[in-house]
Amino acid sequence: MNRRNLLRMAAGLGGSALMTKREAAAQERIARAVRAMPSPKIKDVQVIQTAPAGLRLPVVKILTDQDGLYGYGCACFTQRADLVVPAVEKYLGPFLIGKPADRIDDTWQMLYNSSYWRNGPVLNNAISGVDQALWDIKGRQAGMPVYQLLGGKVREAADCYGHASGTEIAEVIDSARRWMERGFRHVRVQVGVPGMAGYGSRGGTTAVKALHSAPVFEPAAYIRRALKLFEECRKQLGDEVELLHDVHERVTPTQAVQFSKDVEKFHLFFFEDPLSPEDIAWFRLIRQQCATPIAMGELFNSPHEWSPLIIERLIDYIRVHVSQAGGLTPCRKMAAMAEHFNVRTAWHGPGDVSPIGHAANVTLDVVCYNFGVQEYSPFNEALQEVFQGCPAQKDGYLYPNEAPGWGIEVNEKAAAKYPFGYGEQGERKRLNGGWGEVRKRDGQIIKQ
Ligand code: CO
Repeated sequence: MNRRNLLRMAAGLGGSALMTKREAAAQERIARAVRAMPSPKIKDVQVIQTAPAGLRLPVVKILTDQDGLYGYGCACFTQRADLVVPAVEKYLGPFLIGKPADRIDDTWQMLYNSSYWRNGPVLNNAISGVDQALWDIKGRQAGMPVYQLLGGKVREAADCYGHASGTEIAEVIDSARRWMERGFRHVRVQVGVPGMAGYGSRGGTTAVKALHSAPVFEPAAYIRRALKLFEECRKQLGDEVELLHDVHERVTPTQAVQFSKDVEKFHLFFFEDPLSPEDIAWFRLIRQQCATPIAMGELFNSPHEWSPLIIERLIDYIRVHVSQAGGLTPCRKMAAMAEHFNVRTAWHGPGDVSPIGHAANVTLDVVCYNFGVQEYSPFNEALQEVFQGCPAQKDGYLYPNEAPGWGIEVNEKAAAKYPFGYGEQGERKRLNGGWGEVRKRDGQIIKQ
C-alpha cells in the first residue's frame, strides 16, 4: 500500500477530500462506465391519437420512473385505429406498470402470450407500440440511435422508392420523371383503369355499367391497362430506372401466374402482392414459371404466413408492415431468418405508418445485410410539426436520425390539433377512417 492510499484509509470517509479534482472526475467516469445502468420501471402507458396528414396514427408513449426517460412506438392500424387505443390502455397498460422497461424481448413474449389468442392486427399493433417505445427508451438511456444498439450500419442509407400514379399513362410517366429528377432510382408505377376504382390511382370520369352503385373493379381490364403502362414506361423512361408495381391482391390466382409471366420482359424491380395471404400456396406456381421478383407481406400478422415463403424461397422481398407483425423485435428476427435464404426486406412504408414507424423501418434497413428497398412517403409540414426529427430523405436515400433512440420528439400540443378524423370527409368520415367496399360489375365484393 502506498503512502497516498494509507493516508486516505486513515482519513476514512473523508479520504475523498485528499483526491484532486481531476482524480475525482476520473474515478466518477470509471464508476459510470462499469456500473450497470439503473433499470427504469414503466410508470405509465399512453396512446397519442393524431392524424396530421389525414391518416390516423396511434402512437404509444411509455413513461418510466426516471425523470425525462420515455419512448414512443408506432401502433398504426389506421383502418381500425380506435380499437388499438383500448387494447393498449385497458389491457397492456395495467400489465406493464411497474415492470422493468429494459427487458424488451421478455416484455414482447409476455404481451404476445398474455392474451392467449394472438397474431391479430389490433393486438399486434398494440404490442408494436410498446415494443418500439422500449427500444426508444433503451436508445435514449444509452445515448445512441437504435441502429447502433442493433450493431451499427451495414450501409450509409436506405435506397427508397416513391409512388408515381395518374389517371392516364402519360401522367404516371410525368410523375415518375419527377421522382427521377429528385434523384430516385426506384419508382412504383400505378395507373387508373378507366371508370374503375383501381388501386393506387383514380379511374377518371368514364362511367362503367354495373348492377350496383359502389365503386367497380374488374381484374382483366386492370391487367391489360397495367401491361400497357409498363411498356410505355420502358419506352419513355428507359431501362435504367427500377420500376415497381403493386397488384394489391386484386386478381385471381391463375391471373396472377399469367400476369407475373407477362411482366417478366419489363424487368420490374419487384411485383408486389400478386396473391392474397389466403392464396400463398399459389406462389409455387409463379416461381416455377418465371423469374419476376416477387414482393409480399404487408397484410401478414403471423410467422405461419411468412416463414414458409422465406424457407421455400418463394418470394424475393418480404415487405411486412412492421407494427402489424408486432414491432421491431419480431421483424428483426424475421429479417435475420430471411438473410439465410437470401430473401431481402422491403418494409411497408406508406402514409399510414407514423414517422416513428418509418424510423423503425429505416433502422432495420441500415442494419440488415439483406435489405432490398424502402417504400417512401414524404412527411408533410403537419407531420413534421408533430413528429420532430423525421428520417431525412436526400437523392432517393432515407437516413436514420442520429439522435438517441428513434431521434424523434412528439409535440403533443401539436398532435392534439390533428385528432383522429381530421380532414376526413364523406364515406371515410362515416366509416370512422375505415375502408369501404369495391365490387365487380355484377356486385361481387373484391379484396382491396
Ligand atoms: Co402494397
